[in-house]
Formats: sequence, C-alpha cells, structure tokens
Amino acid sequence: MKNNKITDTIHYAGTDDKAIDLFESQYIVPKGVSYNSYVILDEKIAVMDGVDERAEEVWFQNLERILDGKKPDYLVVSHMEPDHAGNIQKFMEKYPQAQIVVNAKALSMLPQFFTLDMNARSVVVKEGDELVLGKHVLTFIMAPMVHWPEVMMSYEKTEKVLFSADAFGKFGALDAEEDWACEARRYYFNIVGKYGMQVQALLQKASALDIRIICPLHGPVLSEDLAYYIGKYQIWSSYEPEDKGVLIAYASIHGNTGKAAEKLAELLRAKGVEKVVVSDLARDDMAEVIEDAFRYDRMVLAAATYDAGVFPCMDSFLARLKSKNYQKRRVGIVENGSWAPMAGKVMKESLSQMKEVTIVEPVVTIKSTMNGASEEQLALLAEALV
Ligand code: FEO
Repeated sequence: MKNNKITDTIHYAGTDDKAIDLFESQYIVPKGVSYNSYVILDEKIAVMDGVDERAEEVWFQNLERILDGKKPDYLVVSHMEPDHAGNIQKFMEKYPQAQIVVNAKALSMLPQFFTLDMNARSVVVKEGDELVLGKHVLTFIMAPMVHWPEVMMSYEKTEKVLFSADAFGKFGALDAEEDWACEARRYYFNIVGKYGMQVQALLQKASALDIRIICPLHGPVLSEDLAYYIGKYQIWSSYEPEDKGVLIAYASIHGNTGKAAEKLAELLRAKGVEKVVVSDLARDDMAEVIEDAFRYDRMVLAAATYDAGVFPCMDSFLARLKSKNYQKRRVGIVENGSWAPMAGKVMKESLSQMKEVTIVEPVVTIKSTMNGASEEQLALLAEALV
C-alpha cells in the first residue's frame, strides 16, 4: 500500500490501535489491531465502513485528507459492531448530505446504537443490488453470521475488489511484522469459528467472483496469492485439521498434571510425532490454545479434579471449544485426582456433546503424582495417538 492508496482511486482511511488492552474485551493483542476503512473516489464518493470510537479523531483527519475538500456521498456499513460502526452518527452529522448504505437488518439496528434518525438518509440494499459510483460499481453480498447477522460485503467489479468485512482479518497493527496465518487463525477461530457453515456459504458465493484485492476490516489488504488465503478459509470453515500434530492442553493445580502432560509430549516426540504443542490453560493465552485445538488433528486434555468436577480453566476451555463448534478430532484424556478422580468423567461428558469427537483410549488416571502404573497408561495413550 503506497501512500495509503490501495489503487489510484481506492484509499485507506483506517488506523492502527496499539494502545488497546483487550480486543472485544477478551483477546490480548500484543501487536495491536487495525480498524480498516476505505474511500472510493469517483463521481460519487463512498466511504467503506468506519472505525472504533477510540480512533475517531485519526479517522476523521484521514477522511479530510483523502477527500481534500470534497464531500462523501455514501457511508457503506458492512457491519454494525462498534469497532467499525462506532462513529456512524458523528459521520452523518459531519456530512449532512451523505447517505448511509445498509441492509434491512443493519437499518433496524441503527436506533439501538444511535439517537439520530437516519431513515430518510438510508439507501437500503439487498443481495445482488448494485450502487453505481461512476466507473466503480458496488455489488452487495449478504454474509449473515460472518459473524453478525447483518454482515454484508461489497464487490467492486471494475477494480475487482472484495470489501470482505471481518472475513480475512487478523489481529496485529498494519506495521506488525508477523506471519499472516498465525494471527488470522487466532482471530478466525475465536471470533468467527462458530459459524463455519456460513463462511462456507460465503466462500461459495465468492468463488463466482473474479477477485484481485481483498480489503478486510482488520489487518493487511491482500493483493497477492489470494488462493492461499481463500484456501486457509476453506480449511478453517470446514473444521478440517490444517496440520498433523498433537495439542496437549493441561490444567494443573500444583504441577503434577503438568508433569504428566510434558511426559506424554516426550513420549509422542520419541515416537516421531511431527508436532507436539503443550499448553498450560491456567497461564497461556486461551485464545491461542483454541486456535491450536482447531489447527491440529489430535488433542489431549489433561486436568486435575476440583470440587468434584474439573479444574476451572479446563472447564472454561471445554465450554469455549463447544461454543466454537469443535469437531472431527481424536482426543485423549488424562485425569488427576488425589482421592476421587472425576475430571476424566466430566471431560468425557463435555466432549460427547461435540460432533465427531473420538476418545482415544485408554483414559489415563493419575492419583496425585505419576507412578509406574500411570506411566504405563501414558505410554499406551501415546501409542494410540501416533
Ligand atoms: Fe471487527 Fe465484527 O468487528
């Protein structure tokens, strides 16, 4: 992106947020996040989405610079979540001639967020409708539940640009030097993961389009090797494993269950398992562990018993897996309990509510610390996981 230009007529108006502590009040973003907004300059000028209220000052400055005295005709709203829609009212007040382009669902949500009545200034669009800006023509593509019900994307056919809303987005500011897939995958599974079926439907529609550039609402504009990014979305949204490997996620109170997890990792590595990742659910970023659960084809849950159930961070991990539609995987179980081990039973029950999850036997039981018998069981589990 040179001089904040995507093409000669499409400009970047968004901004990075490196001061945010938690995105959506739940995800750590060590390298920040970007709120992307774009401006299409033509006979009519369209602003494609806004930014979070946190970034309002920079956004309006960017708009003024790009508009260079001209006035915007449209604000196209793909998504009502406040990280993009927080400034709609201020925009509509600042540019009183502008119309807001929304679908019917987004229109009905406007009064939930804003006091300004925008009905008379709305252009309401539906699937396949076109908005002619001059040479540029936007076609609207409904993408419900990717990842809110009102989400829509816009395809600009002259320059072959897909404005993809949150799809193909990632955590990390635009200048973060990092691999796209890692933070895009963490973003996808934690934020959009539940809605694989809807993402598949969207990819089906997108396959009919000739796309040269993808402009998402977070992260870099994608303009090369688009098959790579679309391929990743195909895998992720179908819940198929992306890589061969074993995630061992453990919940340990005093460290003994953690030791068993490390022992199992050692056994698996000795058996030549390509990739083994060990994560401490009490301390590691759980969003990253969720990402790995979907990334690899096998997982082992190791947890201590607590309050006649399972240690809380494992309980929370299982609840997240379920809500994100975890499925199609082989899962091993290691439980620990000093007097009445219950963790295995609870974990099994949770997993039984997920689609196509196969429990890999044996379920390993440790009583307080590993001994000869439990080490033997771990070896059998390692063997069965290879
Ligand atoms: Fe980036 Fe769903 O908001």
